[in-house]
Amino acid sequence: MQLSICDFAEKYAASGISRFHMPGHKGVKLHGLEALDLTEIKGADFLFEADGIIAESERLTAEAFGSRLSCYSAEGSSLSIKAALCIVRQYLGRDIAVASPRNCHRAFLNGCVLLDIDPVWIYPDSERSLLCECAVSPEAVERCLDERHIDAVYITSPDYIGNIAAVKEIADICRSKGAFLIVDNAHGAYLKFAGEGLHPLELGADIVCDSAHKTLPVYTGGAYLHISKTAPEGFDELAKPAMALFGSTSPSYLIMQSLDKCAEILHGELPAMIRACCERTALVKELMRQRGIPDISKEPAKITVAAEKIGYDGDVLAEMLRGAMIECEYSDPGAVVLMCSPFNTERDFARLEDFLSSLELRPPLTGDGALLSELRPEKKMSIRQAVFSAAHRISADEAVGRTAARTAMSCQPSVAIVMAGERITPEIVKILKRYGISETDVI
Ligand SMILES: Cc1ncc(COP(=O)(O)O)c(C=O)c1O
Repeated sequence: MQLSICDFAEKYAASGISRFHMPGHKGVKLHGLEALDLTEIKGADFLFEADGIIAESERLTAEAFGSRLSCYSAEGSSLSIKAALCIVRQYLGRDIAVASPRNCHRAFLNGCVLLDIDPVWIYPDSERSLLCECAVSPEAVERCLDERHIDAVYITSPDYIGNIAAVKEIADICRSKGAFLIVDNAHGAYLKFAGEGLHPLELGADIVCDSAHKTLPVYTGGAYLHISKTAPEGFDELAKPAMALFGSTSPSYLIMQSLDKCAEILHGELPAMIRACCERTALVKELMRQRGIPDISKEPAKITVAAEKIGYDGDVLAEMLRGAMIECEYSDPGAVVLMCSPFNTERDFARLEDFLSSLELRPPLTGDGALLSELRPEKKMSIRQAVFSAAHRISADEAVGRTAARTAMSCQPSVAIVMAGERITPEIVKILKRYGISETDVI
């Protein structure tokens, strides 16, 4: 039987062999994990041309997720997302038209810049106020596909605050109109094991990017690029070269061992642990419901407190949580996001419940009324053209009427307020300031 990546690294570390190869630490303990930190030596396989222990581990992962092909990334979904766009472009062998809602992560925008894709924006039907809450309906996707030729639809589901898109309906629409569906499922790798029909691979997506590290027990940076069983077979041979086009030639073997270990336990105890975590999270959600604390996350292992609705600025509430020894994933003026996993302890959950039980509820804050989804910024040039233009930085106030040279985002969760190439309006400046951005780059 073939060694796993973990077994190979452990055997190599224990062998006492003299390492006349990279990395320079030679396995000597400085930080702690050096002994297991390898490079692509004989027997260790090559990530982007895998046919040994990495290929076998990826096969185990594909089996667990029900994909036709799963490729490892040691550089997050940020790499998988660029590769996904590249696969569609190379498969069609020409420029492609890609439609996406504006709540896309910067990795998508970077992929568009690098691959010369000028995205078509799909705006939400309803008025929403949170930056990353830019949910898209199947109807909006259909309208977009009816209006013009689109080769691929790109959606983010779940989004940063726990909205889950109607992936199946969107996938059906894409199929009927001849467009591929790529899903940024960076936040939802665990969904495959949380219940039936929750992961985009089960709902008709062609390519899915999962950040294993966000919700599974994987070191930061570990991610997947999944090709679904229903995607064109031609995608498979393009996947690894597309990852190689953007990826480092020195992928972290520590991250790959972590992905390997995760593949092993996904075939063992982890799915039951994930379901138990979702059940435990449901108890917290129920407590919130009883206390009237609004949770706007639709995800089973994510809680998003709509802070403003109970009278708190989200950043202030996050500070109060910190005081109670709880660190959240993200906060902004409107919301606080808490991510749960099977590796949260009962003490963690009890602390959170104590905090929520004693939280004083106040009259809702009105916010500053800036509705992000009402913005339809005027496009002056393509994102690529703008990004490669000479630019200078000026204060946000001075930027009104100018063209953004770089996409301005809230630093977390990396969702755009104004895209590169768009005209900056007073409304945009208001939102930039709301997210703490006082300067911006203009052409
Ligand atoms: C929605 C979304 N997509 C993609 C990414 C990028 O994933 P990674 O950090 O694994 O590169 C993130 C990261 O936060 C994200 O929130």
